[in-house]
Amino acid sequence: NWNMKNFVEDQVELVRKQVGDKKVLLALSGGVDSSVVAALLIKAIGKQLVCVHVNHGLMRKNESEAVVEVFKNQLDANLIYVDASERFLNKLANVSDPEEKRKVIGTEFIRVFEEEARKLEGIDFLAQGTIYPDIVESGTKTASVVKSHHNVGGLPEDLQFSLVEPLYHLFKDEVRACGIELGLPEDMVYRQPFPGPGLGVRCLGAITKDRLEAVRESDAILQEEFAKAGLDKKVWQYFTVVPDFKSVGVKNHTRSFEYPVILRAVNTIDAMTASIEQVDWPVLLKITDRILNEVPHVNRVCYDLSPKPCATIEWE
Ligand code: XMP
Repeated sequence: NWNMKNFVEDQVELVRKQVGDKKVLLALSGGVDSSVVAALLIKAIGKQLVCVHVNHGLMRKNESEAVVEVFKNQLDANLIYVDASERFLNKLANVSDPEEKRKVIGTEFIRVFEEEARKLEGIDFLAQGTIYPDIVESGTKTASVVKSHHNVGGLPEDLQFSLVEPLYHLFKDEVRACGIELGLPEDMVYRQPFPGPGLGVRCLGAITKDRLEAVRESDAILQEEFAKAGLDKKVWQYFTVVPDFKSVGVKNHTRSFEYPVILRAVNTIDAMTASIEQVDWPVLLKITDRILNEVPHVNRVCYDLSPKPCATIEWE
């Protein structure tokens, strides 16, 4: 009979058979799929798994820290943490076109990962968090028409590995159940989707440090207040966006000229269409109040009422 406990046991056996005493490399972003693959492989082959976490500087507040805490400290993983924030920000300076930004982030990500892979010796396998919908969707091409998504592909010829893909046949809800079975924390397993280019596509136009900080801090406040209101379990995706223009305001009786923060909260089944969450006014007002008081360089908060279509979920 098929249940998650048996699935995990079977996969552990299969991975051990496939890998033997060889080493496996994994790009661990901290997203649901890569986290569950990591937990499964740690159970199967322990320190033969080498995880590389690349912090591209576009992660949410405390996100990279949580990856290190869970995998290095709690699960005792063989984890290499690479802080490439400055490198990504330098590459992204003055790049304002959304698709160009995605390309720069995707290319740089592969470069950093490749550099780390080259430093390691005797790696034969590459683990990937490929899940069933990835296989189905890559056949239809619809997902990439509007925005190009990226994951780790495109490694050079001389760095080709055999693939280990233990979640290949699972749907998303089964991946989450697998993560719970493996003892991963609930907030890691049930987290909302987060784009590969991260906060990079929520800091509109050419990324600057002050606006990136405003996106990160306002996002953290939104996450906190949504959790307090019980909306974190109800709403599919919610985040903040900071555009690259300023508006006039008044702070301490003085004229201010600062950035707006845009709040976005949507529900969807498959991300192809989406409707907005009708958040209660008191929750919105609390979030607004906190952002205006706690986040530097911000003097205005707006709520995005647009469904997809005509808008998309992200702003870029
Ligand atoms: P849009 O903005 O196209 O987003 O309505 C649909 C879903 O896809 C996510 N998204 C991305 N995910 N890389 C990703 O891995 C990307 O470049 C990217 N762009 C959008 C978005 O967060 C939403 O869940």
